[in-house]
Amino acid sequence: MSKLHHPISTLFFSHKPFLFVPASSLRNPRNFFNFTTNSTNNHSLVAAAQAQSPIAKKPPNLPGLENVMLEYMFGKKKATEVAHSVWKCVVQKGDAVIDATCGNGYDTLAMLNMVADKSQKGRVYALDLQDVALQNTRSLLDESLDDNERELVELFSTCHSKLEEVIPRNITVRLVAFNLGYLPGGDKTMITKSDTTLLGLEAAERVVAPGGLISLLVYVGHPGGREEFETVQAFASGLAVDKWSCCKLEMLNKPLAPIIVFLFKR
Ligand SMILES: C[S@@+](CC[C@H](N)C(=O)[O-])C[C@H]1O[C@@H](n2cnc3c(N)ncnc32)[C@H](O)[C@@H]1O
Repeated sequence: MSKLHHPISTLFFSHKPFLFVPASSLRNPRNFFNFTTNSTNNHSLVAAAQAQSPIAKKPPNLPGLENVMLEYMFGKKKATEVAHSVWKCVVQKGDAVIDATCGNGYDTLAMLNMVADKSQKGRVYALDLQDVALQNTRSLLDESLDDNERELVELFSTCHSKLEEVIPRNITVRLVAFNLGYLPGGDKTMITKSDTTLLGLEAAERVVAPGGLISLLVYVGHPGGREEFETVQAFASGLAVDKWSCCKLEMLNKPLAPIIVFLFKR
């Protein structure tokens, strides 16, 4: 089976979703997302890339993704839940990951739960420009984590365009996540901007390891949001196809809903 005919590829890349799904499969919606069939035929993006990846440690783990994707398409799950589910397929215990826009800390906490284990090797590097965001993240982490887990998160008051200045050199980064726009509950004029987002993406492209992921949620409902999405889309479209697999998920009849973008490094 070619990569483009695999269900996940059909979902992400086809202009006509489900075009390649056999009629018999339509009776069971779970078949749209059957990631765990015959391993010799399993050409999912995650499996293929992890097989080639120097940081691959174990077969792909796809806990709950098929249900989350279906519920997202049926309007029952949020973009953040899709993003977290995809991260879980890529991130492993002990990994280093970067939250490029930590905001209120919910993504940071989700990442920490993906990397933390008794080895104490996992790390989350969380960045934000606003002090209030870093305070909110710190409070959430302090109330949610024990001391050992809390040690695995480092917070930085800096722009994501400078992420290479704060993360340790020569670490293997599995995930860099950008949740763009303004801080929920905060100052709506303090938004991510196209120029620094682009610099942040270029830095993320350099630091993320093969088999890793750059994940973006792009909000287009505020001034500058659509332009920022165009910047993200142009960056993603220009990445070499032999090294990157890039896709977006967009709700067609909810024009202001966040657009999900995944840049998967092969
Ligand atoms: C949508 S919020 C992030 C939400 C967050 N991930 C969470 O789970 O709550 C966007 C955040 O990006 C931050 N931000 C804006 N420009 C930034 C930049 N250049 N570098 C880092 N963070 C930035 C804002 O301060 C804001 O807190």
